Amino acid sequence: MRVIILESAADIAVQAGNIFVELLKEKPDAVLGLATGATPVPTYKYLIDCYNKGKVSFKDAVSFNLDEYIGLNKEHPNSYYFFMMDMLFSHVNMRKDMIHVPNGVAEDIEKECRDYDALIEQFGGIDVQLLGIGTNGHIGFNEPSDAFSEGTYVTDLTKSTIESNKIYFPNGDMPTKAITMGIGSIMKAKKVILISTGHSKAKAIKAMIEGEVTPSCPASILQKHSDAVIFLDRDAASLLA
Ligand code: PGA
Repeated sequence: MRVIILESAADIAVQAGNIFVELLKEKPDAVLGLATGATPVPTYKYLIDCYNKGKVSFKDAVSFNLDEYIGLNKEHPNSYYFFMMDMLFSHVNMRKDMIHVPNGVAEDIEKECRDYDALIEQFGGIDVQLLGIGTNGHIGFNEPSDAFSEGTYVTDLTKSTIESNKIYFPNGDMPTKAITMGIGSIMKAKKVILISTGHSKAKAIKAMIEGEVTPSCPASILQKHSDAVIFLDRDAASLLA
């Protein structure tokens, strides 16, 4: 695990974004693992800027997002599919049929989970997986639990995740379940980049980096990944020894 502390969210966006820019230069049909949430937004803005300046093309790229709320379809403004279109894909030359977000309204959700993992494998696995982290140490929607999950599955969201994300659902209709890539799926990515900013994440960051590897802090598993890079601002890093 390589930990890099930077001055600002903007610096993190440039460093994390450049990893994708370089990847796509070397491998135009790379498989990108992408994340939602507030943290990656500056990185996506930076990638859009690079695209507009002709520094990167997504023409042959493939993407897989980490997760989706159960019960929200692609058109729902709170769905993660909608978020990705809004924040990145509709601004760059990504092929729509190469964009993959788990289907939160699949009739057979178990099959959706199995198919999602199979499709990632079919494309040769994820080259670079971008991650945020929850205040409870979750990655994707892998919430603290007794065991590390394996492939894509359906999970109940914890109180703390509902607390953190309910601001996006002013009508009080936040889903309580999600479909998420599992810890096993995330660990298969060839490279992982976790980005985090702000004091609210400092405890989870300390547990991830300095704590034991335990499913009660799902992100701690990244200590065992052979190529995990953690970009933090000073606030997120403030509790580190
Ligand atoms: P955030 O979410 O980027 O909105 O803080 C991160 C996460 O919950 O994984």
